[in-house]
Amino acid sequence: MEIILASHNLHKMEEMKAALKDLHFEIKTLNDFPEIGDIPETGATLEENALLKARTVNKLTGLPAIGDDTGLEVDALAGEPGVYSARYAGENVTYEDNVNKILNEMTHIREHERTARFRTVTAFVDGFDEITTAGKIEGLITKEPKGTSGFGYDPVFYIPEMKCTFAELSTEEKNKISHRGHALQKLSKLLSAHWSANETTGV
Ligand code: IMP
Repeated sequence: MEIILASHNLHKMEEMKAALKDLHFEIKTLNDFPEIGDIPETGATLEENALLKARTVNKLTGLPAIGDDTGLEVDALAGEPGVYSARYAGENVTYEDNVNKILNEMTHIREHERTARFRTVTAFVDGFDEITTAGKIEGLITKEPKGTSGFGYDPVFYIPEMKCTFAELSTEEKNKISHRGHALQKLSKLLSAHWSANETTGV
């Protein structure tokens, strides 16, 4: 069976493929379906956006799809950028623009008040069932970027237990502890249980 990851983001797809490797299914991405363009994130919550992506791709292809949506919540910025993390510095901006905006907004914030968390919601949709899971990780926003791995806000997200930023970890190390890694580990377990139950009942 094939599953499609409802994303064009190469970094994210690499993380998702690695986190779902135990499922033993052929994992495709939107790069395999160039006719499907960007899916606008019009939902008001991470869950709405994750479901929107998975439902749209399932409807257009007839194949099971997994969507995800992530937000970075910074306490000193009243939870911003949250669900608007991709567009924090405006439409069509780079990761660097968003990172610079966060750092500029936080120049006056002291180290112990720079608490933040990533939250991810993943959604599986196959036309019969819909399954969602969530994951999060707590950390601190650094005063300057550090590290070259990963994407998005990774260079400014410091994990105290690891004593480094996400951008200083390999994909494998990030997946073990990250918001997306946790959500996908839960989804992977639920999907395995879901399919073995269906096999038993012959559905
Ligand atoms: P998306 O809508 O789930 O693609 O995520 C929204 C934005 O959050 C992205 O454009 C990235 O800037 C950021 N983001 C998502 N996941 C991560 C991550 O794992 N690390 C750092 N930034 C991320």
